[in-house]
Amino acid sequence: MAILITGGCGFIGSHTCIEMLAAGYDIVVLDNYYNASPIALQRVKELSGRDFPFYECDIRDEAGLRKIFAENKIDAVIHFAGLKAVGESVQKPLEYYDNNVGGTVTLCRVMAEAGCKRMIFSSSATVYGMSNPSPLLETYHTGEVTNPYGRTKYIIEEILKDVCVSDPAWSVVLLRYFNPIGAHESGRIGENPNGIPNNLMPYISQVAIGKRPFLSVFGDDYDTPDGTGVRDYIHVVDLAKGHVRATDFALKNTGAEVFNLGTGKGTSVLELVKTFERVNGVAVPYKVTPRRPGDIATCYSDPHKAEAVLQWKTEKTVEDMCRDTWRWQSQNPNGFEE
Ligand code: NAD
Ligand code: UD1
Repeated sequence: MAILITGGCGFIGSHTCIEMLAAGYDIVVLDNYYNASPIALQRVKELSGRDFPFYECDIRDEAGLRKIFAENKIDAVIHFAGLKAVGESVQKPLEYYDNNVGGTVTLCRVMAEAGCKRMIFSSSATVYGMSNPSPLLETYHTGEVTNPYGRTKYIIEEILKDVCVSDPAWSVVLLRYFNPIGAHESGRIGENPNGIPNNLMPYISQVAIGKRPFLSVFGDDYDTPDGTGVRDYIHVVDLAKGHVRATDFALKNTGAEVFNLGTGKGTSVLELVKTFERVNGVAVPYKVTPRRPGDIATCYSDPHKAEAVLQWKTEKTVEDMCRDTWRWQSQNPNGFEE
């Protein structure tokens, strides 16, 4: 019995490989290296002390996928593979629909053919859109998304629900991540953004290490305690452990089930900057700039469903997230380039 992890060389995927192995699962990893380095998996093997099959394969490559299912007994798929840059998705919508939506359809088709009908899917809090109030509950309406990336997540959720309706043997767990940050405690694996980071934490750590002169704080006139945007930051290792529980659940149940994976606590941009400076003893110069189009003031989860059903909740603090990000960034100033 093995679990196939698509996109397993990426940020969340590599951390999830470690937690799945630690929980006693056998894994098979697939990635096309579009946004990843082979070094990430070498380090996963080093940290876990385990070996496992890896396939350099694209989720849109039907023959490549068939070979993986023929050569391994796969019981479930944790599906991370996809493109994730919001701004880029506005410029290249067809690439996003082809890779994320088309790739998932191909993957599901090959899974069904192989008789493997269990999937844990990486969705996002972005599906809740702009108008739902926080804390966000799984039952709130979705689909009012503002960019092609978010729309791919919404569409894939709907496709996977339809698949479960069409065939009651399917088991799908839709995991809506809030804002994953942090890195493995060892400092050996972490987030490795390409070019200028879009997200807050990688930007902060690149300012702290001197790669960028200052952080732009996108607006300080929101209706929040200090005027800056509030988000639910979740440590990537807590998030990875959520996938272990979601896999346990998917193996025992059928149908489609949605879970938020978040802490339930909001942190502002300036709180994150100050915490990073304090716990790491480094300076993060910043300037307040205009709001980023499409941003909302506040977004945090109601995490109780995952706690009740999956027996999972986060354990790590914002301090841990800042400390572990900095350990990764300072030990690997150029990411996985050795
Ligand atoms: P990542 O880019 O680090 O990982 C994605 C991995 O998928 C990469 O290793 C990439 O090479 C691979 N990949 C992309 N397209 C592929 C394809 N067609 N075939 C095979 N492999 C392919 O991103 P991540 O941050 O680890 O995110 C993982 C998943 O979680 C993504 O689906 C992302 O949309 C989702 N997600 C991420 C966040 C976040 O903030 N990081 C938030 C919500 C949801
Ligand atoms: C963004 C995406 C969301 C995606 C998520 C992945 C947008 C509009 N949304 O969410 O679809 O699922 O990343 O984690 O891009 N900020 C700054 N300066 C910066 C960067 C960010 O002030 O240089 C602020 C933002 O205004 C926001 C907060 O930091 O208030 C977090 O931003 P970010 O890390 O980009 O995540 P989200 O916007 O929540």
